[in-house]
Amino acid sequence: MLKIAVLVSGGGTNLQAIIDRIQDGSIENTKIDIVISNNRGAYALERAAAAGIDAEVLSPKDYETRQQFNEALLEKLKSRDIDLVVLAGYLVVVPEIVIQEFRNRIINIHPSLIPSFCGKGYYGLKVHEGVLSRGVKVTGATVHFVDEGTDTGPIILQKAVEVKQTDTPEILQRRVMEEAEWVILPRAISMIAKGQVSVVDGLVKVEE
Ligand code: GRF
Repeated sequence: MLKIAVLVSGGGTNLQAIIDRIQDGSIENTKIDIVISNNRGAYALERAAAAGIDAEVLSPKDYETRQQFNEALLEKLKSRDIDLVVLAGYLVVVPEIVIQEFRNRIINIHPSLIPSFCGKGYYGLKVHEGVLSRGVKVTGATVHFVDEGTDTGPIILQKAVEVKQTDTPEILQRRVMEEAEWVILPRAISMIAKGQVSVVDGLVKVEE
């Protein structure tokens, strides 16, 4: 059984997609052991509660120093014996001590086709604003392993989405979520749960 922790900050629609795919059997042999949010007002926490999943708020604001927060987050993940950490709209910088402990066991969903429109400053609507202002015709989403950089870890899955002339950032964000994010994040978890994913020389290999 793959025990996952889902880290959230906002609405939790990616969390909901994971919950739904586990419930309908698309993702096998996987349990969301805990949802952790830095934001006590995150609707994602309501989604966890509705699904009967343990949820906790762990915010840097509740600690004297960032190091104390970092250590608390690491301890939480280790104490729950987590196998895979899933960042689903998590807006806190993942501490290096967590990345080192969970090397190639932390995945993130980014709402563009990395390496485009990613890195510092590219999150949420800002990604889609960049897409529209550059005039690209295709965007999408990427699931990647998390390393010490920003959106720089080995790429696991990507899915393309058409950009339409009438798109606003909000319309495009919704289409990327519906057509890409909510599809490839659960799919990546399912592949990892089946042991199909490995990293060789910094590149993801997927067993067919
Ligand atoms: C999504 O747009 C995702 O790509 C990005 O943050 C947002 C999270 O949305 N990482 P939600 O909280 O999963 O609804």
